[in-house]
Amino acid sequence: MDIEAQKRLAAARALDWVKSGMRLGLGTGSTARHFVDLLGEKVRGGLDVVGVPTSEATRAQAEALNIRLSTLDETPELDLTIDGADEIAASDLSLIKGGGGALLREKIVASSSARMLVIADESKWVPTLGRFPLPIEVVPFGYQATHRAVSRVTGQADGSLALRRDKSGHPFVTDGGHWIIDAAMGHISDPKQLADRLVAIPGVVEHGLFIGMAKIAILAGADGIRVVER
Ligand code: A5P
Repeated sequence: MDIEAQKRLAAARALDWVKSGMRLGLGTGSTARHFVDLLGEKVRGGLDVVGVPTSEATRAQAEALNIRLSTLDETPELDLTIDGADEIAASDLSLIKGGGGALLREKIVASSSARMLVIADESKWVPTLGRFPLPIEVVPFGYQATHRAVSRVTGQADGSLALRRDKSGHPFVTDGGHWIIDAAMGHISDPKQLADRLVAIPGVVEHGLFIGMAKIAILAGADGIRVVER
C-alpha cells in the first residue's frame, strides 16, 4: 500500500466517529483532503453534518462536494475536528502542524472542538517532536526583529530558521495574511516550554505545536491501521 492509500485508509476510518447532526472541524492537508472527499460521499448518501473549514482550500473542496458549511462565528462550539499532522508524538499525541500553512485556523478550530482526531500515515509517528521543522506564523511587520527573537527562543542560528517562500520566491502568505518561519530544530526536548516562550514574542501569531489537543490518532501503515487513544 502506498502512502496515499494509507492516508485514505486512515481518513476512511475516521468516518466511524462521525454521526449525523455533528458539527465538524475540517482539517487541511493531503490526509484531511481524503477525509473531506470521503465525507462528501457520505453527505451525498444522506449524512447530515455541518463543517467549519480550517483553510480556504478546504472550504473550496467542501463547497464543491456540497458539504454544508458554517463559521466559528455562527457555530462557535464544534463536536469533533478531524485533521492531519506533520508529526505525532508517541508519548502524548502532541503534534507538529502547519506544513500546509494553515496552523492558525487549524488551532482555533481544534480548540473550539470537544474532541480532536488526528489522521495520518505511520511515517508521522515519532518518539520526540522536532524532526519536522516547526512552522511559526509571524506578522510581516518587524520581521527581522521577530526573527531574532525566535532565534533566541529556539536557540537556532539563521540557517535553521527559514522564511517559507512560494513557488515564485516570494514569502508564502497564510490565509490570515501572515508569514511562516520554519524552524529546523531536530529535536524539541520541552515542547510546552518552547510553546510558552514562542507565544510570548509579540510578532509571533501562533506556532505549530499542538499540545494536549489530540486525544485520538488513527495511523495507517503497510500492515494496516491502528487507533491510539491518550
Ligand atoms: C496544514 O497546515 C497542516 O497542519 C497539515 O495538517 C499537515 O501538514 C499534514 O499534512 P499532510 O496530511 O498533507 O501530510
